Amino acid sequence: MIRAKDITLFKDNRKILDSIDFHVNKGEFVAIIGPNGAGKTTLIKVIVGLIKPSKGKVEIDGVKPEDFIKRRRGIIGYLPQKAIVNWSMPLKVLDVVLIEKVRPFGLFKRYSKEDLEKAEYWLEVFGVKDKINSYIKDLSGGEQQRVSLARCMFNDPEILILDEPNTAVDAVYNVKIYETLKKLCDERDMTTVMVTHDIGAVTMYVDEVMCLNVKLHCHGSPSLINYSEMLRTVYGQGLNIVIHGEQCKNCAFGINNDRTTH
Ligand SMILES: Nc1ncnc2c1ncn2[C@@H]1O[C@H](COP(=O)(O)OP(=O)(O)OP(=O)(O)O)[C@@H](O)[C@H]1O
Ligand SMILES: [Mg+2]
Repeated sequence: MIRAKDITLFKDNRKILDSIDFHVNKGEFVAIIGPNGAGKTTLIKVIVGLIKPSKGKVEIDGVKPEDFIKRRRGIIGYLPQKAIVNWSMPLKVLDVVLIEKVRPFGLFKRYSKEDLEKAEYWLEVFGVKDKINSYIKDLSGGEQQRVSLARCMFNDPEILILDEPNTAVDAVYNVKIYETLKKLCDERDMTTVMVTHDIGAVTMYVDEVMCLNVKLHCHGSPSLINYSEMLRTVYGQGLNIVIHGEQCKNCAFGINNDRTTH
């Protein structure tokens, strides 16, 4: 579904991305991890067609990302790292979820009953339905991120591209977000690419992990790659890693919380 071929990108004569090649299949849930400055946001922007690489190309269903979007052959839900919503605006949560609907006509356009029900549905999925009539400036950072996820899902995207959607979200809700995204990929055949710094818990939910630091150091199922060693290569030797999994015991992220140790 998403194919990156030999993506190389220079900024100010510095190589930000180096010969990146990968393929993401339809319905897959993929995490991109890597240290600050690794090029994750840059790669995401190349995938959604916001930045042109110096060399190489990205194709979505065989066409350029902008053509994929323009021809409305599919919809991409994109949540950037830096907010596109000004959270100090005097808007309510519902206005933000329906922002695509109301923008061309002004904020006072009436929306349909179906639109309202759909907005309520997605706010419920991300656990913020009770905030529907709250002003967005009154939400916590984690609640704002969950409202942003509901807004992304409102248009029924085929592809969801998320750049650190969970930085402000608490540990328990973080797991709920992963579970929800995994379910959406499985049930709707939605393809999700998510940048995250949560290098431990995410491995329990995603199909594939990409470890990026200018180069793509690995790409594969977390159970098949030598994840710990790869992370030390990408992040440095000082990293102490706890990988969560079936064996994970007495842990907020564990499958079975009855157990007592890692
Ligand atoms: N417009 C730009 N001009 C010059 N350098 C840039 C530009 N955009 C990004 N960079 C540089 O490219 C590198 C990668 O940036 P990027 O934002 O992709 O990193 P990241 O992996 O998303 O990091 P983080 O985890 O901090 O979000 C950084 O060193 C950054 O300073
Ligand atoms: Mg970034």
